[in-house]
Amino acid sequence: MIKQLKSLIRQLFYRSTVVQSFVGLCSVSCGRTKPIGMAHLLSYRENDAIGPLQRDEAIALFGIIRTLRPKVVVEFGFFHGHSAFNFLRAMPEDGQLFSYDIDEEAMMRARLEFRFDRRFTFVGKSQTDFEPGDIGGQAIDFVFFDAAHELALNMATFTRIVGHLAADAMIAIHDTGLWQREHFAAIHETFVREYPGEWMSEDLYAHQPGERAFVDWIAAGAHGFSAIHLHSTRTLRHGFSLLQRQRPLAAAVDAGAGNRSQAAPSGVSA
Ligand SMILES: C[S@@+](CC[C@H](N)C(=O)[O-])C[C@H]1O[C@@H](n2cnc3c(N)ncnc32)[C@H](O)[C@@H]1O
Repeated sequence: MIKQLKSLIRQLFYRSTVVQSFVGLCSVSCGRTKPIGMAHLLSYRENDAIGPLQRDEAIALFGIIRTLRPKVVVEFGFFHGHSAFNFLRAMPEDGQLFSYDIDEEAMMRARLEFRFDRRFTFVGKSQTDFEPGDIGGQAIDFVFFDAAHELALNMATFTRIVGHLAADAMIAIHDTGLWQREHFAAIHETFVREYPGEWMSEDLYAHQPGERAFVDWIAAGAHGFSAIHLHSTRTLRHGFSLLQRQRPLAAAVDAGAGNRSQAAPSGVSA
């Protein structure tokens, strides 16, 4: 009888978002689970997001940050703070986010509107001027490139940060996907007319070819990074790529390697 009742409740749960919300609220209020803090994502735009990251990308990054629990996150490209706020919602209490931007309005917004969170530091300078002192000399666990969109500037930035990446650090590079023509809205037609992207085939458009070349450059370099790509042509997707140093999982682990925030040994990062 109890078994049947439980199965009935599960059937209701699977079929109804109201029941899912109710069960979720009960789980949180009785202390069985903790709140997730994803409500902000309901207001993030998807198909017509051009400056900020897309909502579904924000969801993916939210999950990645929740999974990794990085101590030090560096973001290049604050803009209006969509990605920064998303990182803050996902980051642990002892995490720190350092966000770089050179735009006056971005600086104003960051300094005025992000004062609420002591984990946030705005760095009002170019990504290429990164210095370890900006982030208190700490090792970087997660870095997000979404600023200059220029290969030469990204390469210069990478060269400055690579020695300060934790051994298991993850690099995320935004705008590495291809836009499928059939999903274009007016805003994408305008972008294609006004900005110098590249048609990779009749229907697939690289809106930021420099970011794609940047990923290839890192992966071909001597630092041992390999990449996976969160891309889709089944929707209008800006896309992002994730890079991490390759290492065999079955090998023994160094004593210090469990500490994500420890910079890679110089032999690895050089
Ligand atoms: C695409 S927007 C960032 C969007 C943001 N990450 C989000 O998802 O909400 C790019 C930002 O990078 C900034 N930017 C451009 N060149 C830069 C540079 N060299 N250094 C730092 N920021 C730069 C621009 O001012 C702009 O605010």
